[in-house]
Amino acid sequence: MTILVTGAAGFIGSHFCVSALQQGLDLVLLDNLENSSIKVLKIIEELSGVAPVFEQVDVRDKDALVAVFDKYSIDAVVHFAGYKAVGESSADPLMYYRNNVAGSINLLEAMKEQGVHKLVFSSSATVYGEPEFNPYTELHRKQPFNPYGQTKSMMEDMMRDLCDSDSQFSMISLRYFNPIGAHVSGKLGEDPKGIPNNLMPFVTKVAVGELKELGVFGDDYDTVDGTGVRDYIHVMDLAVGHIKAINYLSDNRGFEAVNLGAGKGYSVLQLIETFERLNNVKIPFVIKPRREGDLAAYWADATKAKQLLGWQTELGLDDMVRDSWAWQSANPNGYSDN
Ligand SMILES: NC(=O)c1ccc[n+]([C@@H]2O[C@H](COP(=O)([O-])OP(=O)(O)OC[C@H]3O[C@@H](n4cnc5c(N)ncnc54)[C@H](O)[C@@H]3O)[C@@H](O)[C@H]2O)c1
Repeated sequence: MTILVTGAAGFIGSHFCVSALQQGLDLVLLDNLENSSIKVLKIIEELSGVAPVFEQVDVRDKDALVAVFDKYSIDAVVHFAGYKAVGESSADPLMYYRNNVAGSINLLEAMKEQGVHKLVFSSSATVYGEPEFNPYTELHRKQPFNPYGQTKSMMEDMMRDLCDSDSQFSMISLRYFNPIGAHVSGKLGEDPKGIPNNLMPFVTKVAVGELKELGVFGDDYDTVDGTGVRDYIHVMDLAVGHIKAINYLSDNRGFEAVNLGAGKGYSVLQLIETFERLNNVKIPFVIKPRREGDLAAYWADATKAKQLLGWQTELGLDDMVRDSWAWQSANPNGYSDN
């Protein structure tokens, strides 16, 4: 079985590729390298022992995408490629709709034209919006309140409609909670360009001295210590979830949305305390006002992932903070040389 992996050089895609290649899966890696480094390919090879096949293609370029399907005999697709910054999506929504929705339509059309019926998609807990109840189950209504979340929700709707229109299709949308951590080797990790949007890369960049202090947005939420609570998931657990999803698609048809989370929440201050204690570094932080659009607390009900895919998290917060720091401390500049 040959799997096309879009966004393969990115944070989550690269960790998936290492796991999947180690499992003996046959992959074609695709990325436009807009938010990733070509160096990742060498590291994937080093860690997996397999030299990956790579195509530098933009999914917004339909002809180039179709040429990849023509060149290889693709059986399934794992679609990571896209933009992911919530704030940026509010500032430039059309850029997000063009890449995450129009790019995904190109992919779905290419799959349909070429008779490729299996897809695993990177969705997000952002599709749920304000929690009506916690933890979120997959039955929670979808009501994203930013363009990024809308793009994920729209793609899910397209996948469902496509599966309803043709019973040969089998597609899974994986709704990630908060992926952090890095490969245990410390050689592969998250390397956001510019000021990070997510908490963990911010923490590691403060720890390494690149940023002066961490801003903690809000300490008056109705949570254990007043700071926001999130469900953190190790990126290697996430990688395994995708392999289980591919296996599921081999024997099943139709559309499913599945939460991938630990089923447990930690506050910002708990994460900082764990990071400082286990890694023996200080994280200076200042409390700032709440950020518009931030939710107080949410975490996953991961029961469906266990029942449907036979997946659950194996790694805990300790592993996440250790591996994130091992990566950042060994690579203070990420993949760049200076
Ligand atoms: N990291 C998170 O916190 C998180 C949470 C939920 C969902 N997701 C989703 O998971 C996916 C992967 O996220 P990530 O954290 O690895 O992000 P990332 O930015 O590290 O990886 C995305 C990759 O896609 C590539 N890419 C972007 N647009 C492309 C295009 N038009 N054509 C080809 N390649 C393109 C980028 O160069 C990058 O290598 C994204 O779809 C994201 O929305 C991420």
